[in-house]
Amino acid sequence: MRSHYCGGINESHIDQEVTLCGWVHRRRDHGGVIFLDLRDRDGISQVVFDPDTPESFFLAEKVRSEFVIQVTGRVRRRPAGTENNNMPTGQVELLGKQMNILNSAATPPFPLDEHVDVGEDVRLRYRFVDLRRPEMLNRLRFRSRVTSYIRNFLDSNGFMDVETPILTRATPEGARDYLVPSRTHEGSFFALPQSPQLFKQLLMVSGVDRYYQIAKCFRDEDLRADRQPEFTQVDVEASFIDEETLMSLNEDMIRSLFRDVLEVDLPKFPCMPYSEAMHRYGSDKPDLRIPLELVDVGDLVAGVDFKVFAGPANDPKGRVAALRVPRGGGLTRKQIDDYTKYVGIYGARGLAYIKVNDLSKGVEGLQSPIIKFLGDDIALAVIERAAAEDGDIVFFGADRTSVVNEALGALRIKVGHDLNMLTSEWAPLWVVDFPMFEETSDGGLTAIHHPFTAPSCSAAELEASPATALSRAYDMVLNGTELGGGSIRIHDEKMQESVFRTLGIGHEEARAKFGFLLDALKYGCPPHGGLAFGLDRLIMLMTGASSIRDVIAFPKTQSATCLMTQAPGEVDEKQLRELHIRRRKPAAKPGEGSEETSGNM
Ligand code: AMO
Ligand code: AMP
Repeated sequence: MRSHYCGGINESHIDQEVTLCGWVHRRRDHGGVIFLDLRDRDGISQVVFDPDTPESFFLAEKVRSEFVIQVTGRVRRRPAGTENNNMPTGQVELLGKQMNILNSAATPPFPLDEHVDVGEDVRLRYRFVDLRRPEMLNRLRFRSRVTSYIRNFLDSNGFMDVETPILTRATPEGARDYLVPSRTHEGSFFALPQSPQLFKQLLMVSGVDRYYQIAKCFRDEDLRADRQPEFTQVDVEASFIDEETLMSLNEDMIRSLFRDVLEVDLPKFPCMPYSEAMHRYGSDKPDLRIPLELVDVGDLVAGVDFKVFAGPANDPKGRVAALRVPRGGGLTRKQIDDYTKYVGIYGARGLAYIKVNDLSKGVEGLQSPIIKFLGDDIALAVIERAAAEDGDIVFFGADRTSVVNEALGALRIKVGHDLNMLTSEWAPLWVVDFPMFEETSDGGLTAIHHPFTAPSCSAAELEASPATALSRAYDMVLNGTELGGGSIRIHDEKMQESVFRTLGIGHEEARAKFGFLLDALKYGCPPHGGLAFGLDRLIMLMTGASSIRDVIAFPKTQSATCLMTQAPGEVDEKQLRELHIRRRKPAAKPGEGSEETSGNM
C-alpha cells in the first residue's frame, strides 16, 4: 500500500513520486492550501494539498486528527524559509495528488500532536493511542533492539533458547503465587511461574549445558515504580561453570550492550561483599553515583545518658550511624523537618543532626539540639569520626540495624539527588557474599535468594551455624537498582535436604513440593549456576524512563489491574462451576461493605 515510511522521506527523494500511509497528526488550513502532517512509526512527513487537485483537496478538508489515510504525491523541496531543521523530513514535503481515507477516527481521548499533561489512568485506558506517541513507540523499538542484541550475544556464546511451562507448580521466589484452577482436577491449582528457576536447573540435569530464555514471570506482590506483577526476565543458566566465569560473561553482555546500543562505556564492575554494602551504604543495592557513606558511631555514644543513642549502641541488633553531607549546613529547619518525615517512612523515630559551622571554635562551632545530651567531647569525637568539615551537616540514625540501614540508606539517596551530588552517570557493581538466610519476624529463617542457592560452606557447617553462613549468590546492581541476580546452585541432594531442613521444610513437605528436583539431583546433576536480569528494569534504566510501566506495552497499574481490558474481570457462574469454584459469601464483618472473595470449595 505504500512505497516509503513517513519518517524516511528526505532530499534524496526530491521529484520522486511516493505513496505514504499513516495517521493524520495535525491538519492546518492556510486559506487555499491544506497541510497535513502524516505520521507512522518512523516519523512525520508534511503533505500539501492545493486546489489544483480538487478531489484530494476536498478529501483533505474532511480529514481530522488520527484519520488513517493513504497519500500519493511528488516529493519537493520546501520553499526557502519554511524548512524545519528539527525534523529529519524537514527539508522536504509531499505535494499530494491522490488521497484515500482508509479509516476515520473518533476524536482521540487526548491530543497527540503536542505535549499535554494527561493522567496515566487515561493513557493506560487508551494504551493503543498512547503507544502512538513517538516517545512510547521509541521505547518499544529500543526494547526490541535490546532483546535482539541479547539473543545474538547469548546465541553466539553457545546458549540455547528453551521455553519452560507457564502452567506449573509454585516456584518459590518470595512472592505470592498467581493460581490457575484446574477444571480436570477438582480442587487443584496450577501456579504461574515466579521464575523458570527449577526448570532451568532441570535442563542442566538434562545436559542442555547453556540455556537462556526471555521469560515471563508472575509475582503477586506489592507493586512499586520498578515492579510489575507480570514482568520479563532474561534468564540464564550454565553447567560446569563457576561464579567468576558466569559473572564475567554476564558483565560482558551488559557492557557490550551499553556500548553498542547506547554508546556508553560502563566502567569495570567492582565486587562488593554484602556486609560492606550494608555497612557503608545501608543497602544491598547501593547507588554508587552518590558519594555519601554511613559511618558507625555506636562505640562513641554507648556511654551517654541519651537513651535514643545509648540503647541501640548497646544492643547487638542495634546500630548508631552518622551520615555526613558535605556542604549540607545550609539546609533549613523546614528541609530538615521534611527529611525527618521522610526517614519516618522507613520506621525511623527521629533524625538527629549536627551542623558544623566553625570547627576552629570547638564545640561552640557546632549547632545541634543533641549536643547537650551527648556532651562536648563526644559531640566532637563523633564529628571527627564522620570527617565533617565546616559547612557540613551530619545526620544520625539510631535504632534496630535494619531500620537505621533502611532509613539512612534512603536518606543518602534522597539528599544526594536533592543536592545534585551525583558523581557519574552510571555506577554498576556486583554485590557478593550474601548471607544464606535472614530471620523472619517470627524468629524463623528464610532464604535470602531462593532455597536452591549453594552455600559457600559444607552442609555440616551450614546446619551448625545457619545465621552466619554465606551463599554463592551475586547481584548485579546499576545506579541503585538491582538489575539481576543469581547464584551457583546446589547440585547435591544431601545439601539440598540440609537447606530445606534449616528452613524448617521437613522431609515430607520437601518431597511433596520439590520431589522432582530431589529426584533429578540423584540422577547425575552437573555443577551449575546462572542468573536472571529484570528486562523491564534494564530498559527503564537505559531509556531513563521514570516508571517500569513506560517500557511495557500493556502494563498493569499499581493495584495490579489492566485499565484497558478491565482485567481481572468477573466470570460467569458456568465457568466457575466447571472449575469447581463457588464464590464465598462476603465475610461477615461488623458493618457493611465487605469484599467478595473467591475460594475453592
Ligand atoms: P530474582 O527474584 O532476583 O531472581 O529476580 C531476578 C530479577 O528480576 C527482576 N524482578 C522484577 N522486575 C520487575 N517486577 C518484579 N516484580 C520483579 N521481581 C524481580 C529484578 C531481579 O533482579 N530465579 C532467580 C534468578 C536466578 O537465581 O537465576 C530470580 O528470579 O531485576
Ligand atoms: P528527642 O529527645 O526525642 O526530642 O530527640 C532529640 C533529637 O534526636 C531529635 O532531633 C530527634 O529527631 C532525634 N532522634 C530521636 N530518635 C532518633 C532516632 N531513633 N535516630 C536518630 N535520631 C533520633
